[in-house]
Formats: sequence, structure tokens, C-alpha cells
Amino acid sequence: MPSHFKQEIILGLDVIDKDHKEIFKRTDTLLTMCENDRYDQTIKDTASFLSKYVIRHFQTEEHLAKEHRWPLYVELFSEHEHFKKELADIIDKISKQGIDKKLMLHMNVMLVDWWVGHINNIDRELVDFLKTKIK
Ligand SMILES: [Fe+2]
Ligand SMILES: [Fe+2]
Repeated sequence: MPSHFKQEIILGLDVIDKDHKEIFKRTDTLLTMCENDRYDQTIKDTASFLSKYVIRHFQTEEHLAKEHRWPLYVELFSEHEHFKKELADIIDKISKQGIDKKLMLHMNVMLVDWWVGHINNIDRELVDFLKTKIK
């Protein structure tokens, strides 16, 4: 199983790091299933579980950002909304047309590259800010 989670994306706030690890674990599972052409109900279930988990994680971050009046809340929120749309689109494509090379490439870009970029940028800034607020 490929492991897309790297140590350097540990940000230092447990409640957020635990979610990120879990999201990468589930993403790895989903991508491995797709690579193996296991196109069946399990893929749909895994994708929809990932989506629910991601949405809950976004709510956690947004709640913390709002509670502590983080100035970049709007940017965080709009990045999350963008990803939610992308993920819903991926899940829709999986259930309507199955997995092909193009979708697989798109999934890698969105589920791995986008995530790593998001975590290393805006999430990292959020966590650095929260560390000054939460002791
Ligand atoms: Fe985030
Ligand atoms: Fe996050």
C-alpha cells in the first residue's frame, strides 16, 4: 500500500494531526483499490466514508479558526469548499463511469498533491496561530 503521509506534515496540534493521518490512511486505501481495478461497492463506500471524514475535519478546523478569530478564516473556508466540490465530483464520476486513467490521475492530484499543499500552507499557518492561543 502506498503511503502518502510524510512525517514533515505533522503540524504539532494533536486534534488536527490525528485527522490528517487518518485521511491519508483512507486515501491510500482508496487509491490502492482503484489501482487494482477493484471497481465495486467497496470503492464507493470507501470514497463516501473519506468524504464524510474530510467534511467533519474541515468543520473542526473552521470551528477552531472562528473561535480564536483567525484572520485567514475566509481563505481556509473557501479552500475547504473548493476541495469538498472536487471530492463530490470525484465520487460522482466513480459511481457513474467507474475508474479510468484520467480519473486516477485527477484523484492523485486532488487527494494527494492538493492535500499536501493545503496542509503545508494554510493548515500550518492555522496551527502555528492556534499554538499561541491553546496551551
Ligand atoms: Fe484545512
Ligand atoms: Fe486539515
